[in-house]
Amino acid sequence: VVAEAQAPSLPGLLDRRLAIVTGKGGTGKTTVCAALARAAADRGLRVLVAEVGRDAQIPRLLAADAPPVGYAEQGIAPRITAIRIDPYAALAEYLGLQIGVPALVTRVVGNRGFRQLMEASPGWRELITLGKVWHLEQMRLEGRPKYDLIVVDAPATGHGVTFLDVPRVVASAVRAGPLRQHTEQVESLIADPKRSLLLPVALAEELPTRETIALVERVREALSIRVDRVIVNSVYERPFPQGLDDLDERLAALPAQGFEQLPETHVLGHCAHHLRARYELNERYVGEIEAGTGLPVIRLPYLKRGVRDANDIALLASRLLASPEGLA
Ligand SMILES: Nc1ncnc2c1ncn2[C@@H]1O[C@H](COP(=O)(O)OP(=O)(O)O)[C@@H](O)[C@H]1O
Ligand SMILES: [Mg+2]
Repeated sequence: VVAEAQAPSLPGLLDRRLAIVTGKGGTGKTTVCAALARAAADRGLRVLVAEVGRDAQIPRLLAADAPPVGYAEQGIAPRITAIRIDPYAALAEYLGLQIGVPALVTRVVGNRGFRQLMEASPGWRELITLGKVWHLEQMRLEGRPKYDLIVVDAPATGHGVTFLDVPRVVASAVRAGPLRQHTEQVESLIADPKRSLLLPVALAEELPTRETIALVERVREALSIRVDRVIVNSVYERPFPQGLDDLDERLAALPAQGFEQLPETHVLGHCAHHLRARYELNERYVGEIEAGTGLPVIRLPYLKRGVRDANDIALLASRLLASPEGLA
């Protein structure tokens, strides 16, 4: 622990090759992935953003005119490429490469009986998906990595953690053979703190706070991937300038004349109290996350109008880049 604290400097968010974003559904994982991709591209990096499963929401968050994205890498904005990794598509590709008869493999993988068999088998989805990520990380273009940074929108926590538990998956699924060797390469990428990072996304609320602390604990105990900071999303910003502790008195002292268009002062006071209490509670949970995980927190602000388009993502990206914890 001491050696770690004295290490000259931790690789920054954007110095990794692989950032796996995780967290309970609804915390803002997908939003954060889009913002991280935007931030990396703004810094001149070539970034690949990968969604796992059936949904591809990130492209439209980054570009209004984004084309549909599937298993083929698809450019969606300058320096930003997207992909949606469907485990079955990844399996078909892998088996196709191994067996060398892609058409046959596609038929087998599309077969209902085969799918039923696979649905009942643990571990292969994670392994094959991470295998695809590894393959993408290995790709080179003009003598350097094709993608400087790969951002993965991991399945929701619970699955998000088992998702990364490659040694366990291997023990249960593959003991020998080509898949075994492949797996060791995947594990060495995941376990390399210079290349890979797990980025939990939390909310400053009671349950997400507890879950995030538990998540970080579990990752440290059981997984090889590094976790070195937490993103707390949708944080209320300070409602008033610091040092306005006497706001109530100031409101009460407003002269009656000249302020007729304002609500009555006790209404204003009530609103001010509500905003301050909400902010303070939020900050308390951020503090609990910092203390409970021992990790620095990157705050992303709550956007009142929601996250609608590329402009909102660009705003969150600029906050990621401005945050001292963001790049350090
Ligand atoms: N900082 C934010 N401010 C306001 N709304 C947000 C913010 N981050 C995310 N949201 C909204 O919260 C919802 C969940 O976000 P999403 O990124 O889809 O979460 P997840 O991928 O973890 O399920 C979405 O409607 C999204 O637009
Ligand atoms: Mg999502």
